[in-house]
Amino acid sequence: MNKPNNNFSVEYPELGTDPISVESVISEAYFERERKLFQQSWVCVGRVDEAPNPGDYFLKRFEMLVEASLLVVHGEDGVFRVFNNICRHRGNSLVPTQFPQGSRPKGFRCKFHAWVFSTTGELAFVPDEEQWCLSGNSFDKADYALPQFNTEVWEGFIFVNKDPNPRKSLRETIGEEFYEPMRGYYSGFDYSLTWHVDINCNWKMILDSFGETIHVKSLHKFHITDTVVGPDNPDSHLLSAHLHRRNRSFSTFANLTHQPTPAEAIAYKYGYATWTEQDTAGQLPPGLNPGNHEAWAFDGVVIFPNLLMVSSNYWMAVFRPIPIAVNKTRFEIDYYVTKPTNAGERMCQEYARCAVRDAVREDAEILENCQENLMAGVITHLPLSNQEVVLRHNHWSMDQALQEMEDQEKANG
Ligand code: FES
Ligand SMILES: [Fe+2]
Repeated sequence: MNKPNNNFSVEYPELGTDPISVESVISEAYFERERKLFQQSWVCVGRVDEAPNPGDYFLKRFEMLVEASLLVVHGEDGVFRVFNNICRHRGNSLVPTQFPQGSRPKGFRCKFHAWVFSTTGELAFVPDEEQWCLSGNSFDKADYALPQFNTEVWEGFIFVNKDPNPRKSLRETIGEEFYEPMRGYYSGFDYSLTWHVDINCNWKMILDSFGETIHVKSLHKFHITDTVVGPDNPDSHLLSAHLHRRNRSFSTFANLTHQPTPAEAIAYKYGYATWTEQDTAGQLPPGLNPGNHEAWAFDGVVIFPNLLMVSSNYWMAVFRPIPIAVNKTRFEIDYYVTKPTNAGERMCQEYARCAVRDAVREDAEILENCQENLMAGVITHLPLSNQEVVLRHNHWSMDQALQEMEDQEKANG
């Protein structure tokens, strides 16, 4: 059960074995095709933890959907809705962008002429309303609710679909491999912290860099190498990959014989916040670690197009690369743990999250180099190893989805 898998190219022949084109990460035209697809897809814009109480809100930028910011609101009726953050009078930002998160249980009052919108999006109050009625437009407040996106919540993740008639349900998008089998897992953690960073690379390259572990021995040699490389797995191969139609998960190896450094030993004396000690028996949902590996570190679970959930027994990290341009991405990372019950556990979690942060920074730095060099056009194709099957699926699934969208458009005339 702990043996790495070396047969991916045999297990997934449809992905092919040829080098893959760099077109999908450097081409403006490809990016524009993706924009169209994002506008028809369910995409994650955040977590319910960011607006825990009725009346709470947060702003989000998602340029692929719309240039203006999105206003995510936990309504007074308990329902989450996502609006354009645009006042229906003359287009002011309803919530000023310098207040990206907060609480407005009495509704949102525009600073320009003081129109008020309820937490459920209706236009609730117009000062001096009669003047609009007198203008001869048969003014009715009911016609001026905030523009709204289709919104659904799964396991605490808030998804929106810009298409007024979504082609697929959210459940179909998440798929039967994850929708029920991950029940309870993602909502079982407590929010810990967020990192946001703009990286000059294509958004898919971020998913790529967290889709294989063969770089760990080299790139992360001072931080985490010894925890994911061991006598059973000297080159840090994946334990398994589970590639579904568009989505995927993959299971990574933990070195259970890892000898902690003195600092680690102190931190981990008080709790579990990493993967080198296991007490997983019976605690995981059926969708996680589906290969039942004993020396298991975490699964990467990807919901197409751009949500990656690094899912372990003791923490999870939600990675959302938000595309801005073909070579620019806002990388949002939310880190979750279970609430510590004493100071020792708190210290242990802090130590672990610093280790994750340091590793992510090393990845981010490399990505900017790769993007700049690929944009130079000297290299046109990338040879992928058997261990990079998840990357192959990342690009293959986008190619397939774009093709399907365009075939559908043709069929509809
Ligand atoms: S633009 Fe908002 S009230 Fe006038
Ligand atoms: Fe890495």
